[in-house]
Amino acid sequence: MTLPYASQPAPVTPPSGAARPRLTFIGTGYLGATYAICYAELGYEVIGFDVDVDKIEKLSKGEVPFHEPGLDEMLRRNLAAGRLRFTTSYQETADFGDVHFICVGTPQRASGLGADLTYVEASVSNLAQHLSRKALIVGKSTVPVGTAEWVEQLVAKHARPELAVEVAWSPEFLQEGFAVDDVMRPNRIVVATKTEWSNSLLHAAHKGVFDLAATEDREVPVVSTDFATAELVKVAANSFLATKISFINAMAEVCEVAGGDITQLARALGYDPRIGNRFLQSGVGFGGGCLPKDIRAFQARAQELGAGEALRFLHEVDLINLRRRQRVLNLAAGLLGRKFGPAGPDLSGARIAVLGATFKPNSDDVRDAPALAVAGMLARAGAAVHVYDPQGMENAKRALPEVEYAKSMVDAVADADLVCVLTEWAEFRNADPVALGEVAANKLIVDGRNCLDATAWKSAGWTLRALGRPTV
Ligand code: UDX
Repeated sequence: MTLPYASQPAPVTPPSGAARPRLTFIGTGYLGATYAICYAELGYEVIGFDVDVDKIEKLSKGEVPFHEPGLDEMLRRNLAAGRLRFTTSYQETADFGDVHFICVGTPQRASGLGADLTYVEASVSNLAQHLSRKALIVGKSTVPVGTAEWVEQLVAKHARPELAVEVAWSPEFLQEGFAVDDVMRPNRIVVATKTEWSNSLLHAAHKGVFDLAATEDREVPVVSTDFATAELVKVAANSFLATKISFINAMAEVCEVAGGDITQLARALGYDPRIGNRFLQSGVGFGGGCLPKDIRAFQARAQELGAGEALRFLHEVDLINLRRRQRVLNLAAGLLGRKFGPAGPDLSGARIAVLGATFKPNSDDVRDAPALAVAGMLARAGAAVHVYDPQGMENAKRALPEVEYAKSMVDAVADADLVCVLTEWAEFRNADPVALGEVAANKLIVDGRNCLDATAWKSAGWTLRALGRPTV
């Protein structure tokens, strides 16, 4: 059932007695911290909870522990207004909240493709034990289908039965770099509730979003559905996006052998409104904290449910994506004229500048980042790798300590035999090929994101190779 924001359920009084439900966000990683800050901005009283003392101290001091445009200022404003605070106490969180959003991580299990639900279990059990009045627990984390029912059982086991604590599900769809807008101006809200009371309270918990939309003359579509569908929406959406990216990268593979140009092919495809041009950018592929792990966990869950065959294509989507990284290594070796042994190319003695470490621009996130993975592969092939990224240096150094890190783009490129652009930061897209040509040892460049103006680089004397395009 799809409801416009105007069809409001009958109002209920939040269990705390406050006029608007008090909200808590459990887990202040990327998801929870952004939501906590944005919902305070929307006027709610909010607590952000985490077991990580360091994170909570930072947030309490007004420091966002990751890079997200617009969030720092919003955090400080709402701390100062007294609407927002952070804690490591389950008791304080339970005493305060009417609606508790579970925003903890669900990483890939160390032993296989499935999702690790340890943090969901710990947060729900602990919260439930500390509750002393009725409350609504809402799952936001990306989880295998069936988790919401299991969370209900956990709540039944750990919360006092007379409190009649309820569970609902409402997945999130935020993209790093656009997270503030994605939370405050979502393109849809998906809710799964089992009772009138939880539906009404969850609506009140989103009213700030609906009111903002009304002032901007927009509507936020609401999809009210069952637990299983709500859980599936998120992984289905991410599977679709991953498939779209791998589709265009598969076409790039064909272009490479057939002599076509993937950027022109993608442009021509994208004009068909049924296809659309978004997520059709070919390059070194997708990474980050969501897409790779979500398509793997989805396959594992479908297998458990006996529908493994239906998602077999996602395995291929993953393989296409990982092949792009190898392809950059091969292009680099080809440009440097290196021989391929049984273990791959030998790049010893070559100095390579890697521009980009994060999984996409305007983020400092290096989780499963293709750029950093390629930097590691180049180093393992024997190259002296010098990485530069505008925002991701600290995280990259922790994740891949075995390469060199340069202080600037120019420092990374200085004396390089080859340059690889692997994240499409504006600084790299707009770099001056003439100036960089003066400091590099060789004018050889791999455009791993199809983001450079090939003609300009060629005019400056560079040999450019891009994934899915002819040599320039
Ligand atoms: C994604 C989903 O978009 C978001 O809805 C969900 O809530 C979380 O996962 P995010 O991880 O922030 O968000 O990244 P996204 O912008 O989707 O990009 C994912 C990866 O795909 C990046 O590595 C990006 O470089 C790559 N990508 C994206 C391409 O290679 N080509 C494209 O055309 C688009």
